[in-house]
Amino acid sequence: MSGLSLKSPAKLNLFLKVLAKRPDGYHDLQTIFERISLCDEIRLTRRTDGKIIVICDHPQVPKGPKNLVVKVGRMLQARYGVKSGATIFIDKRIPVAAGLAGGSSNAATVLLGLNKIWGLGLKRSDLVLLGAQIGSDVAFFLYDSSWALGEGRGERITRLRIRNKYWHVVVVPRLKMYTKDVFGRLNLRLTKKEADVNILTLALKGKSAFKTGQLLHNDLETSILDIKPDLIRLKDRLSQYGFCGVAFSGSGPSCYGLAPSQEIAIKAAEDLKRYYARVFVAHTL
Ligand code: C5P
Repeated sequence: MSGLSLKSPAKLNLFLKVLAKRPDGYHDLQTIFERISLCDEIRLTRRTDGKIIVICDHPQVPKGPKNLVVKVGRMLQARYGVKSGATIFIDKRIPVAAGLAGGSSNAATVLLGLNKIWGLGLKRSDLVLLGAQIGSDVAFFLYDSSWALGEGRGERITRLRIRNKYWHVVVVPRLKMYTKDVFGRLNLRLTKKEADVNILTLALKGKSAFKTGQLLHNDLETSILDIKPDLIRLKDRLSQYGFCGVAFSGSGPSCYGLAPSQEIAIKAAEDLKRYYARVFVAHTL
């Protein structure tokens, strides 16, 4: 196989509880990942010269070794003695550094893709170990599952069987928010101890999107608002559209509403576009 076209989806965190700071500087957490229909497209072709070339016209996407997909390619080449290279074309639609894990998703998609076009025959368990070295959110995208519980740094994945599909409006403000800074600001004494991932998981499997919406939780919200207090205006505005619940995704700044229907999501998004340039309607994928 020499070429491949793949979708690389974004995620939302419907629940994110930080349990403790670890000696390695990361935080142990519990999170619920949802894969959503906002996707990048990635095309991979094999090269015979061993180079890893990234083609992407998005100005914020690095083309060199800082790009996680280049790290993936180099890591596989070094570890498995691969002589081939790859051209990786990324059609970028997921906003960068937004809490939607676009870069991690690209890394996971390229791991899966290079495994195929280079004929490596690696098992998922191998790919998960490699992915965890690239970033905490990479593993989730290697499981081909709409929903998962993430533990440890977020890289220990348990698939969740949730049949419901949900509609969302995702708003991405034009400002930079670094995951490292958001975790760095966190005051663990101020996080909500009673938030319970099992209660949300049960609600996600149930019939009431409104019940689910009330249980959305993100311990990182206080740090996100500490860094950019203005973002409370975004959350307040989103709360005016009849959503079942509103929350920040991951380390922000993306904020989303869980909509009771596709119609309400589309209507809300149309109106929100008057205030924000980057507004997306997306559903569980
Ligand atoms: O794993 P990733 O590269 O996405 O993490 C970026 C940064 O976010 C880490 O360097 C760390 O500072 C912070 N982080 C954390 N705990 C996690 C995940 C990320 O402290 N579980």
